[in-house]
Amino acid sequence: MTDPRPKHLLDFQGWSPERLSGLLDNADTMLNVLARPVKKVPALQGLTVCTAFFENSTRTKVSFELAARRMSADVVSFAAGASSVSKGESLRDTVETLTAYKMDAYIVRHTASGAAHLVARYSGKPVINAGDGRRAHPTQALLDAYTIRQEYGDLRGKRVTIIGDVLHSRVARSNAELLPKLGAEVVLCGPATLLPLELGTMPGVTLTTDPREAVRGAHAVMALRLQNERMQGGYLASLADYIATYQVNESLLSEAEDGAIVLHPGPMNRDVEISGEVADGERSRIVKQVENGQAVRMSVLYHLLVGRD
Ligand code: CP
Repeated sequence: MTDPRPKHLLDFQGWSPERLSGLLDNADTMLNVLARPVKKVPALQGLTVCTAFFENSTRTKVSFELAARRMSADVVSFAAGASSVSKGESLRDTVETLTAYKMDAYIVRHTASGAAHLVARYSGKPVINAGDGRRAHPTQALLDAYTIRQEYGDLRGKRVTIIGDVLHSRVARSNAELLPKLGAEVVLCGPATLLPLELGTMPGVTLTTDPREAVRGAHAVMALRLQNERMQGGYLASLADYIATYQVNESLLSEAEDGAIVLHPGPMNRDVEISGEVADGERSRIVKQVENGQAVRMSVLYHLLVGRD
């Protein structure tokens, strides 16, 4: 590969399709490690990885910490709520303090868009963005891409429909950036109040407010959580109307390709953006996404930290 290896994974700027495909190929190797009785390799021995989470998480935090430990790194789990951030310490001062303890890499989640960039600037160490505001969640998009690829072998020519609260979704933005790089077409769908027009200018991305049109011919349908915590009201006519129109359920999926799979990044509002029947049904790959997340995050850590110096 001739393109320079990026130092960080903040979004997909500077990541070539070849490099991204290689990352997904390496996740196959990591899945093999995770299938062994002893799920441990020495790849990150001697390195210290800090998970710095300023916003709650289950999947991303647990899987990153496991991924780092599976590769023999030391892990510092920094939870902002139980730290001096609650006394008013700034993000910059927090990062400079942690960096004095000789961290080798940071995995950062924050409510503010751009926070991971700030950590990269003040730490000088590789940073993986584990979700910043509504801007980006690149490892979620990578595990989504990996899960679709696992199903179809290749993303080229695949139609991936993402339905729901696109406005507040960093997952939608990262998938809209990543999947077309890997050859897939992305359709973003939601009520007009939750569908930012500027996303329709991204290459390989189209927008529609019509869920049946969006799902027609789809190979994968991803439901997005209604992010009630980021809404100040006024986005929906009513919850009942939203559910009747945009819920991913068996009726809506009858428009998709035979064998189309269903994804959800989690956490789910069951029977709101996705019916419980579909979430637990044959098409669902939601548990598979969670399983794949650990392998994909091992691959990202390996790519950024091994053999760099
Ligand atoms: N998908 C996702 O980011 O889940 P968590 O918030 O639980 O990490």
